[in-house]
Amino acid sequence: VIISRYSSLAIVLHWLSALMIFAAIGIAWSFDDMPLSPRKLEMISWHKWVGITILGLTALRLFWRTSHRPPALPANMPAWQKWAAHGTHGALYILLVLIPLSGWAMSCAKGYPVVYLGLVELPCLVNKDLELGKSLREAHEWLNITLLVLLAAHLGAALKHHLLDRDNTLSKMLPWIRPRTSNPQ
Ligand code: HEM
Repeated sequence: VIISRYSSLAIVLHWLSALMIFAAIGIAWSFDDMPLSPRKLEMISWHKWVGITILGLTALRLFWRTSHRPPALPANMPAWQKWAAHGTHGALYILLVLIPLSGWAMSCAKGYPVVYLGLVELPCLVNKDLELGKSLREAHEWLNITLLVLLAAHLGAALKHHLLDRDNTLSKMLPWIRPRTSNPQ
């Protein structure tokens, strides 16, 4: 059978992740050049909570993915585009695990344990080590630059399928967009 769209749970998790990623990056860019102040510390806390939430959402999505088959790619897609799609999706999952983990470890290495929502202190997997903290800070930044490049490709591909190829790719993740009937896949 051809599955025509993602399940409702997969769709909710996808768009919630998108919203949280947008928030995490927006908050980080706003506090980045702020001088140290209570306001900045509060924003860093929110950034960490949103980031840990993304890690949780990604764990749920990977779990979903092991037990469900996503809808097929358009049959007429060239092989290289199928590879590019699978590669991008795989790399996005990896980054959505590594970016929060690098942030979490960075906080611990700098000597600030992460207290999720101000309620639950998360365990530290690394000890305080300021040199390690600096390296993790750079890793966090470079992983984020890679994420932004891949998100641009992901968004660009979704729009290309919708606007140029005029196929059903986008409506599999946004079902209230009317599926195209002329080109069923
Ligand atoms: C997918 C989730 C996350 C995204 C997209 C993200 C994104 C970012 C970005 C774009 C920056 C600014 C880097 C720069 O200056 O270029 C940043 C900084 C930072 N992030 Fe994250 N982050 C995430 C998760 C986390 C988590 C889970 C933590 C900690 C628990 C964390 C802790 C930090 C800290 C402490 C900084 C500031 C580093 C500094 O200025 O010294 N991040 N993050």
